[in-house]
Amino acid sequence: MDIIICRDADEVGRVAAATVARIAEAVGPAVVLGVATGSSPLGLYQELARMVEAGELDLSEASAFALDEYVGLPEGHPESYAAVIQRTVTEPLKLDPARVHVPNGFDADPQQAALDYEEAIEDAGGVDVQILGIGSNGHIGFNEPASSLSSRTRLKTLTKRTREDNARFFDSIDQVPLHCLTQGLGTILDAGAAVLVAQGEGKADAVAAMVEGPLSASCPGSVLQLHRRATIVVDEAAASKLRNQGFYRWINDNRPAWQREIRGA
Ligand code: GLP
Repeated sequence: MDIIICRDADEVGRVAAATVARIAEAVGPAVVLGVATGSSPLGLYQELARMVEAGELDLSEASAFALDEYVGLPEGHPESYAAVIQRTVTEPLKLDPARVHVPNGFDADPQQAALDYEEAIEDAGGVDVQILGIGSNGHIGFNEPASSLSSRTRLKTLTKRTREDNARFFDSIDQVPLHCLTQGLGTILDAGAAVLVAQGEGKADAVAAMVEGPLSASCPGSVLQLHRRATIVVDEAAASKLRNQGFYRWINDNRPAWQREIRGA
């Protein structure tokens, strides 16, 4: 894992976007992005959008696969992840909507929709770079604690804590769905690269457990310890409970020139 500790949330967005853009450029115009919802990657998306607007990055031939979707919302609900991805990713990054995929949480048969989603990712040649946030309980996508470390896209039940965390997007917690479709941890591990962003003290415990805790289904994010190319970009507050902070900073301060360039630093 490559741990990058940034001064603040703005720098997290810039560094993470530079990392994603470098990978996208290396893969080529038909890059397959894995995209996450939530507040954490918004700065990253804004910076990618700026690059697209400035002509520094062209994603017009790219595809995207979202990590997850609620099950139980009416189709077209503004907080459905299909709608959130359209607002925060597809439009600002000028992606072709026909190539942006979200698990179909409105399908009468969500289990089948999950299987179809895995097939669609495979047909696209797999995700090249997966953008991730982390839940305060360590979840990635909607893989809650006790998720199988080799799981694939499937129907899951949300924890009380995740529903409380996400209640801010709804009028009340009762409106937050109980169920979801989410890419599995095994699906996420198959991505060519993973870039996870986290900001704020509320994520400090989850970040510490993910990076320095045991590999455990109790902290689903810890599965990234198995990923061969995972970059974790956090601000000071989210990094505050990492025991080896000094070492991660020292690595960053002493990167060989070629790696500094890759970081966009
Ligand atoms: C949500 C999403 C995750 C996201 C996480 C953190 O429920 N399913 O993909 O990473 O929770 O969200 P936020 O970035 O808003 O803290």
